[in-house]
Amino acid sequence: MKVIKTVEEMQNWSETVQLRGETVGLVPTMGYFHQGHLGLMETAKAMCDHLVVSLFVNPTQFGENEDLDAYPMDLDRDFKLAEEKGASVVFAPQREEIYPAGFQTSVALASLPLHLCGLNRPVHFGGVATVVTKLFNIVRPEVAVFGAKDFQQLQVIRQLVKDLNFNIRIVGNPIVREADGLAMSSRNVYLSPGERASGLSLSRSLELAEGLIKEGEKDAAILRAKVTDLILGFDHTAIDYVTLCDPETLADVDHVTGPVLVALAVKVGTTRLIDNRVIDPAQ
Ligand code: PAF
Repeated sequence: MKVIKTVEEMQNWSETVQLRGETVGLVPTMGYFHQGHLGLMETAKAMCDHLVVSLFVNPTQFGENEDLDAYPMDLDRDFKLAEEKGASVVFAPQREEIYPAGFQTSVALASLPLHLCGLNRPVHFGGVATVVTKLFNIVRPEVAVFGAKDFQQLQVIRQLVKDLNFNIRIVGNPIVREADGLAMSSRNVYLSPGERASGLSLSRSLELAEGLIKEGEKDAAILRAKVTDLILGFDHTAIDYVTLCDPETLADVDHVTGPVLVALAVKVGTTRLIDNRVIDPAQ
């Protein structure tokens, strides 16, 4: 496995393998791999001749008071895990390689960032859209795989690929969970044992919502209230949002009339966790 650090070398590598008729699958990451990342790698590897994993903690998607400087990192372990998953390349550029002096162009979406996590993280999705656009142009993959835990991010990427005419297949990988239901996240390492137990409030409340919807509850306000009560019944929890919305547009719904996305962001101690489930009342 090669570790590539420059844009030029990465573009040359992709061009060379593609001229040989070989396909490239990209898994964009910010590193500190867990089972969720490894699942994305397995999916991409199964679909393409070459797996490229990008590893870049993107500063433009962090707001001023967010955890950019504290973002966990273990490059040697990540390189080893990517190699075990059969990666041909880890693309791990320095910050100046992606954002050189004088950089001034960014990608912005009109309405998708105005919902869910975008409400409290106003710069986040513009930063994600910009860096992912750059990664697509640098790696030139046929396929790119993203996790469904960041449901809004996945929708943003699907929309940008459509709007900017990228010829790239976007694949959403199902959420990977610990045995007890906690969605895997690089941020889970910040949880104390007590907070770890309270992290279960997210998956438990999604189960509750699914049960209620399938029993016929349609009123989004009632569902939101029940989910909120369950979460706040756990110690250390503070709700950022509990939302029932359209899975395509992410616009809030008042009544559940078809598939609905139940999306949660909860601060457990100082760690912000997210989780979601698309629930179809007809299934
Ligand atoms: O999901 C992530 O880890 C990041 O948002 C991504 C897609 C790698 C862009 O920096």
